[in-house]
Amino acid sequence: MSETLATASYIGATILFILCLGGLSNAETSRRGNLYGIIGMALAVVATIFGPHVSAAGLAWIIAAMLVGGSVGIYASRTVQMTQMPELVALMHSMVGLAAMLVGFANYIDPAASANLGSAEKSIHEMEIYLGILIGAVTFSGSVIAFLKLSARIGGKPVMLPGRHWMNLTGLLVVIYFGARFLHAETVADGMMPLIVMTVIALLFGVHMVMAIGGADMPVVVSMLNSYSGWAAAATGFMLSNDLLIVTGALVGSSGAILSYIMCQAMNRSFVSVIAGGFGSDGGKTVSSSASGEPAGEVVPISANETAELLREARSVIIVPGYGMAVAQAQHTVNEITRHLREKGVKVRFGIHPVAGRMPGHMNVLLAEAKVPYDIVFEMDEINDDFPTTDVVMVIGANDIVNPAAQDDPGSPIAGMPVLEVWKAKTSIVMKRSMASGYAGVDNPLFYKENNRMLFGDAKKMLDEVLVALKS
Ligand code: TAP
Repeated sequence: MSETLATASYIGATILFILCLGGLSNAETSRRGNLYGIIGMALAVVATIFGPHVSAAGLAWIIAAMLVGGSVGIYASRTVQMTQMPELVALMHSMVGLAAMLVGFANYIDPAASANLGSAEKSIHEMEIYLGILIGAVTFSGSVIAFLKLSARIGGKPVMLPGRHWMNLTGLLVVIYFGARFLHAETVADGMMPLIVMTVIALLFGVHMVMAIGGADMPVVVSMLNSYSGWAAAATGFMLSNDLLIVTGALVGSSGAILSYIMCQAMNRSFVSVIAGGFGSDGGKTVSSSASGEPAGEVVPISANETAELLREARSVIIVPGYGMAVAQAQHTVNEITRHLREKGVKVRFGIHPVAGRMPGHMNVLLAEAKVPYDIVFEMDEINDDFPTTDVVMVIGANDIVNPAAQDDPGSPIAGMPVLEVWKAKTSIVMKRSMASGYAGVDNPLFYKENNRMLFGDAKKMLDEVLVALKS
């Protein structure tokens, strides 16, 4: 493939990636967006491997690597559960970081990479390598820790080392100092030591940064690492002089940054305080809503039959799904109940919190999979004012996102996080298996409110029973 054709393919792929991101911003256009992304990526891969920069010998290596990577990808996509998606994504981000690191070292060692460069160009090239390895190393180790936390292989509580901000600052100064030494190194051997020291510091910084972030802030960490992986890919693009990789990395980096901002807003957190860490440090501890230290009121259980009765009599119903719906895989039964109620003239809508579940858009994906119509699925801001005029709210496996303590208890670890105000409805029904806390590890005063009922059990099993009762 000629240089011109490869460049034209790259421009085509870039346009497709932008259309892909545009499509993914809306549930109704997301399938089309995905398709654009697939075509764009196929075009990019073909243009790269058959492009002017790959030799015949290199082609064999690339195809072998693609076969291995493709097989792992197909295996993972077939076996990984939807609830394990966030950890898979974190693992993939770590691969992008690792790739950036390895490309950086390979590029530095390869004499051909800087053979025809003038002194200014050589400095710029070395700066690209230094920054690329730095971002790659932070992304790699940070994502590995995020993977371990999200998969509960290590605890979610923030690890707050004494003087941690000073440690980070010292690390930064050392990285700058060794950066100067690296740029002034006469030979590859001389430059290797500063490069390795910086890599070790960056790896430790990635571990330290994510270890210090509390469980409740993990949504922001996932999107932040997504952004970092984009910048790591862009840095790789600079090192390899590949324009498409630069553009794609920048698109991922900036869209991840915007997503982090949206997540921070959804949790009423500033980005800096998330990075500084510590939020959610009360993970696992019971935080009570009343002055006496005990949650006020008593818990009133309800049966599936009684739930069906309430739903049958309701004129308007709002369903609030959470992580438990994903665990129970109850979305199809939810859709059947929705269809049944709508056929009977009940107004049914869904209220989606931006951090419901364990990844951005988690609930939307599940509801779309179950074919719930898009036009009855609303974001938190669109539906929060409607709870006072709603007869029944069904909270399905959600907990933190409907916790009134976020508004009422300034001492709560989730204080200030916007929540779905389900307790304002005539009756709320919470479906979960026990009184256990949610991801943030805080007790939920909603369960003790007078107008709340608890339908205990696995969400799928209980909803199946509700559906049978509704139809009988
Ligand atoms: P959670 O607060 O985690 O609550 C989920 C509830 O589902 C649990 O209390 C659990 O109670 C219940 N549950 C689990 N399995 C169930 C089953 N089979 N049937 C019925 N119920 C079941 O979830 P949420 O309300 O969706 O809030 C999300 C939380 O995750 C937030 O704290 C958010 O910050 C965090 N987070 C979000 C993300 C993103 S990007 N969305 C990423 C990481 C973390 P039982 O054990 O009693 O059943």
